[in-house]
Amino acid sequence: MQPYRHLHSKSLKRLSLIILVLLVVVSWFVSWPYLHEPMDQLMASLNTVNIPQRKKSLIFVTTHLSETHYTFFEKCWPSLLAKGDIYRQSDFLVLITLSEGTEPNWEFLNATFANTNYTAQVVKNPGYHQGAVLALTKGYLNNWFDDYEWVIRVNPDVLIRNDSFLFERMDDAKIQGVFADCFNRDCPTGNHCSSAKIHTDFFAIRPEAVSLQDVMEANKAKIHAELMATQAFSGIVNAGTDSWVPGAGPHNGNCRIRGEASPVIHTNVIRNVYPACLSWYD
Ligand SMILES: *[C@@H]1O[C@H](CO)[C@@H](O)[C@H](O)[C@H]1NC(C)=O
Ligand SMILES: *[C@@H]1O[C@H](CO)[C@@H](O)[C@H](O)[C@H]1NC(C)=O
Ligand SMILES: *[C@@H]1O[C@H](CO)[C@@H](O)[C@H](O)[C@H]1NC(C)=O
Repeated sequence: MQPYRHLHSKSLKRLSLIILVLLVVVSWFVSWPYLHEPMDQLMASLNTVNIPQRKKSLIFVTTHLSETHYTFFEKCWPSLLAKGDIYRQSDFLVLITLSEGTEPNWEFLNATFANTNYTAQVVKNPGYHQGAVLALTKGYLNNWFDDYEWVIRVNPDVLIRNDSFLFERMDDAKIQGVFADCFNRDCPTGNHCSSAKIHTDFFAIRPEAVSLQDVMEANKAKIHAELMATQAFSGIVNAGTDSWVPGAGPHNGNCRIRGEASPVIHTNVIRNVYPACLSWYD
């Protein structure tokens, strides 16, 4: 009996060890997805709670690719594109107006916008149209804005040095446009600012708040870009869904956005912003 007993307890030990190992392996396989699924769901729901459900925005850059514009692209844009959230989270459309016999430096443009989703459109010989007018009419005629919740218009030398004001407004469903006034006329309410003359070097709109018809009528009625934009966006201002760039100005009637405290700056002198632009989003 003894040897048998001995053998029995030995094989029993071995068997229970095998069963134990099997149990551990099986339970590891079984529990893994069940443990992780709720965790994943929890993480996903935490993410959707914190991130506002805003569709993408489009930064619409208009340029005639002058030497100055190339310089701004070269000196400041790589840093802004890499570090500024508004740049990092947007798609880009570069509308290039070319004069006779010139070609864009595609290698340079492709390299500058390499890590973004960017499209370029070329318009040859735009004639009397000012960049901003062309940008609006082309954009609406060709449905370039359809997929975007916000369209932000700039030139290569119009730089957003602090994007907080923009995110605050873009996330506010009651706001349809963010503008600057060439005259900084008093508007204590902060909306319904119907005496303002709207800058065209920088503005941000919900494209759905403006129709092709608004743009075409304004285009017919006004030659100057700012008057055209002021008319095209009057629906937003009349509805009181207008909002204004904080700290911009004084502009004294000059329609170039600027000011010590302005979060957006338009200067055609690179040393006014470079190398400062390299650390705006640090
Ligand atoms: C620039 O990018 C466009 C689109 O991705 C491509 O078709 C074109 O060949 C590129 N040009 C150069 C010079 O890299
Ligand atoms: C990239 O931009 C195009 C518009 O030019 C848009 O249709 C597309 O959805 C964008 N892709 C991504 C991944 O955002
Ligand atoms: C950006 O602007 C916000 C106000 O909109 C301000 O609180 C913040 O300090 C500014 N950031 C920088 C880096 O100046």
